[in-house]
Amino acid sequence: MIIALTGTPGTGKTTISHILGKKYRIIDINRMITDEGLHTGRDELRGSLVADMEALQGRLDELVKGETVTIIIEGHLSHYLEGSDAVIVLRTRPGVLAHRLEERAYFKEKVRENMEAEALDVILVETTLKHDRVYEVETTTSSPEDAAILVDSIIGHLSAGNFEQVERYLPGRFDWSEEVF
Ligand SMILES: Nc1ncnc2c1ncn2[C@@H]1O[C@H](COP(=O)(O)OP(=O)(O)O)[C@@H](O)[C@H]1O
Ligand SMILES: [Mg+2]
Repeated sequence: MIIALTGTPGTGKTTISHILGKKYRIIDINRMITDEGLHTGRDELRGSLVADMEALQGRLDELVKGETVTIIIEGHLSHYLEGSDAVIVLRTRPGVLAHRLEERAYFKEKVRENMEAEALDVILVETTLKHDRVYEVETTTSSPEDAAILVDSIIGHLSAGNFEQVERYLPGRFDWSEEVF
């Protein structure tokens, strides 16, 4: 089974994936883009690489081909890729997210942009437009370990086909639209 783990930067994708790396095979999309040069250039305004999504998809298809273990594809672009059986979107209250991004020394504009994206459910909306099985996990007040346990339990239920057990994580629980104005 292939699970995409997505979410606005700072929601905890990499942290949770590191914890779950003992149990699952993790594919870090951002690292793949950098290490394998799967980009078309640099976005000077944002100071980030522009992913070559076609090349990324091709490389990912090669990597997961014939694989029988459960794989987590981790990164804020993972929901753009084909091939996952379900997508878990990590969610953090925008005010808390801003603190985390400030700690990373993000520019003020980049903090603001990500806060707004989180408040307006941008990644969630993108994901639900493309995928049928989508779940939301909040990482505002939980510890990374507890969040990882929760993600692990959702993957366990999905693997077993126990979809009713994960219904409470279906999209639509968070309304943070008032947090940014
Ligand atoms: N419940 C939680 N789950 C994941 N990370 C959390 C949680 N609570 C606080 N954090 C912190 O938030 C930050 C998330 O960073 P990171 O994992 O790099 O995010 P992302 O990969 O989504 O950009 C880390 O500093 C982590 O310790
Ligand atoms: Mg990350």
